[in-house]
Amino acid sequence: MSREPMGETNGGGLVLVGYRGTGKSTVGRLLAGRSGRPFVDVDDVIVARAGRTIRAIFEDSGEPAFRELEESVVRDLVATHPGAVLGTGGGTILREANRRALTTFGLVAWLRADADELARRLEADSATRETRPSLTSKGALEEIAEVLAVRTPFYQEIAQVVVDTQERGPAEVADLILRHWSPSTVARPAGEPHACS
Ligand code: S3P
Repeated sequence: MSREPMGETNGGGLVLVGYRGTGKSTVGRLLAGRSGRPFVDVDDVIVARAGRTIRAIFEDSGEPAFRELEESVVRDLVATHPGAVLGTGGGTILREANRRALTTFGLVAWLRADADELARRLEADSATRETRPSLTSKGALEEIAEVLAVRTPFYQEIAQVVVDTQERGPAEVADLILRHWSPSTVARPAGEPHACS
């Protein structure tokens, strides 16, 4: 896979992107523990700032209001947490401003899995019903396939490392990312993505 890098260089942080259920938060916490860097999660900061759940934000204010909040949180975290491990929401990559900010922040690792595997994981996750608002009016698998098709080009656009999480647990995913991200590195040139599939 090849792409045009969005930025010339990136900072020393690590950004985890990918669809819901790919393990961004779990892997992010593991990597933070192993690297001694803090883990910050865009969704957690949105919830803290809004004082309500993401589902409530979607229901009360709508997805566009959520995306506005998300963009301002990304901007702030990128400015205030250089070098951290940054967990994003599945749709954070939708806005170009976010893609630029994330690319500047650090190495971008895309955690991927097939739609049917994601459907299985989300169904099995008891937090899904309470915390994950529907993104379309479709059924679970159909929604995932449709939304993934829209988002995949954006994940591809900014990913420097692509990790297939389909048959891997969080520790193995973290190991693979650590082969490409050196927490002691302050800046590294952006380049072609490395596939870990
Ligand atoms: C969303 C994913 C969620 C959260 C919000 C919207 C999405 O994050 O940001 O519910 O658009 O895919 P996770 O990927 O951490 O579940």
